[in-house]
This record gives sequence, structure tokens and C-alpha cells, in this order.
Amino acid sequence: MNKHLTNQSLTNQSLRPEPVPLIDLAAQRRRLGKSVDEAVSRVLAHCQFINGPEVAQLEAELAAFSGAKHVVTCASGTDALLMVLMAKGVGRGDAVFCPSFTFCATGEAVALTGATPVFVDVDETTFNMDPGSLTRGIATATKSGLKPRAVIPVDLFGQSADHDAIAGIAEAEGLFVLDDAAQSFGATYKNRRIGALAPATATSFFPAKPLGCYGDGGAVLTDDAELAQVMRSVRVHGEGRDKYDCVRIGLNGRLDTIQAAVLLEKLKIFSEEIVARERVARRYSAGLADVAVVPKLAPGTTSVWAQYTIRLAPGARDAFAATLKSQGIPTAIYYPIPLHRQEPYRRFPVAEGGAPVSERLAEEVISLPMHGYLDETTQDRVIEAARQALTR
Ligand SMILES: Cc1ncc(COP(=O)(O)O)c(C=O)c1O
Repeated sequence: MNKHLTNQSLTNQSLRPEPVPLIDLAAQRRRLGKSVDEAVSRVLAHCQFINGPEVAQLEAELAAFSGAKHVVTCASGTDALLMVLMAKGVGRGDAVFCPSFTFCATGEAVALTGATPVFVDVDETTFNMDPGSLTRGIATATKSGLKPRAVIPVDLFGQSADHDAIAGIAEAEGLFVLDDAAQSFGATYKNRRIGALAPATATSFFPAKPLGCYGDGGAVLTDDAELAQVMRSVRVHGEGRDKYDCVRIGLNGRLDTIQAAVLLEKLKIFSEEIVARERVARRYSAGLADVAVVPKLAPGTTSVWAQYTIRLAPGARDAFAATLKSQGIPTAIYYPIPLHRQEPYRRFPVAEGGAPVSERLAEEVISLPMHGYLDETTQDRVIEAARQALTR
């Protein structure tokens, strides 16, 4: 290669800022070091890859952490939602209320049971289910001849939904509440941990979640012993007395032992990581509040900051993302299309009044790098780049 070109490309490279990861799993991996390698090695030694002792230990530790009486781990957050709906016998003719501003798995689990997801709008400030829209959604479902059966509030981006308001409506209308806490395990609502707020809570251990494993994983948390028992059967093909006694239609929904072993190690540092995420969020908000709409926590809630998501003026997002990208700072859009506008979900009802907030948020939100290992220098780089992009 030409010597001049080599020098030039080296110079350019040294000028290019180091790319910032959106979520830095490698930094966490370095911190965990040998402990996670040894945990996996123990499973490789005992060879109980399915339902090994780590699975029961993890379920006990997740119960102790959250305050839920029973924890049933499973293969993903989607299976966690599905297992609850299957165990409750939700199906054709039933309406299940979901926010439209969420990941598709929330509505997908409902549709897979044969029930009808009815989309509800979200609150402008918290991005979580709007109780007023839920009430309108119940009226919409009833008018269409559906039976209102359940509601799935989502604790979006790590902040818990308004569980008291939703529980009040659910009780009056006879709805079962399934909390979709895929993004919020570890957060609190009025000093109670997620997992002990609704009759059933589903969470995800997808690697990018605040508590993630090294593959797919999930869990259901509940105080209801009977529900937990039915879910244990649903999780293994609807098994009864033993695995060749089939008493219901189920799934192959188990969590791998290796993933349980990884999660046991990660759970040990999870509380510290939540504090570190909070610190990042506070610094971002202090640095950006005068140039963007920064996240706001409702009184009595904490967040685990699965995402740090700001809102920009309509039309500003693409240029903002491009400017940050040119400085090695990635951004992400959760979610660019609300669920009621996604092709497979368009045929399902939307609460009276529509979901205008979900539609606006889909056009205006953008998420910044967020994890517990983001040092202050990097935080400042993100803040500076965002400020430049928004004030030029
Ligand atoms: C709100 C929400 N619900 C459900 C899920 C599904 O979780 P999983 O990917 O573990 O199936 C996710 C995961 O991204 C999510 O964000």
C-alpha cells in the first residue's frame, strides 16, 4: 500500500471518535469476569441442561428480589406473556387491552391465543397506558361484541405504569391484569417492586434488557399458587402427573439451565447497576432538559432505564440521529410505528378516540446510549453532541 495513503488513513482514524455502544454488554462481561465463566462451567460439568438446579435457585432468588411469591421462568418474555394468557384460558371472543406504543410482542401474545388485542392510547408524559383510553377501549370492545377479559399495561422503557389506576378499572370491569414488565424488572411503584403489583407479571431476560441473560429468557411472577402451577404445566407441553400425561395444550417454554446460571451471577450486581443507570439518566436529563423533552417519572415511580428516550420537535429526528452518528454515537427509535398501524395488527380495534399520542410519539422519540457502564466522559460526549445537534 502507498505509504502516503497509509499515513493518511491512520491520521483519519485517530481523528474519528471512538464509537459508543448503545448498550455495552462487553463492559458488564468484563466486570463479571470469571464468575460467569465458572457458573456456566458448573452447568457444563453437571450436564442438567434442562431444569437443572440453577433454574429452581434462580426462581427462588427472583421471588426474594421482587417480593412475588412464585416465579416461573421460561424461554422468553413473549412466552411469559403467552403462558399467563393460556393458563387463564384467554381465547377467541375475548378482548385484551394493550397499549399501542409498545413492542409487538405485547399484542402478539394476545393474538396467538385467538383473543383480540384492543389497542389503547398512552399518556403523553410517561408513555404508559392512559387509564382514560383504557375505559374507552372497554366500551369499544363491548360494542363490538367482545368480552373484556384482561389488560396488559406495559412498563415502558423501565418505568412502571399507573398500576393503581389500572387496577381500579380492572376491578370494576372484571379484568385480569397482566403486567408486561419486559423492560422494567427492578423498578418500583409506590415502594413496591415490579412483580408484586399485578396478579401476574411477565418479564424478559433478552440480553439488552436491564437484567438480561446470554440468549433468550423470561419469567412470570405471581402470588397466585394455582396460576403458577398451571403455568408450570403449560411450560412443558401441558404435562400433568408426568411428561407423558398431557392435560392441556402447552408449549416448550423452559429456560435453559445455562441461562439461569448466567442470570444468578448477574442478579448479584443488578441493584448496583440500577443505581448506575439512574445516575446516567439524571446526568443526561440535567444536560438536555433545556433543549429536548427529557423523560419524566410519575410521582411514586422509579425506572430501571431500559431506554433513555427523549422527544424532539416534529421533523427534527433524522438530522439529529445523523449528527450523532457522524460522531460515533448511535441512537435508536423505539418505536417508529405504533402497533395499531403495523400491518398484521391493523384489523384489530382501537379504543374510541384512537391513539393520537402513540402516533405522535412514534414520530418524535429517539433513544440515546444507556447502560450502567457509561462513564462520565462518554455521557458528556453524548450530551454535547445532542446539544450541538439541537441548537445549531
Ligand atoms: C414490552 C415488551 N414486551 C415483550 C417483549 C418480549 O420479550 P422477549 O424478546 O424476551 O420475547 C419485549 C422484548 O423486547 C418487550 O420490550
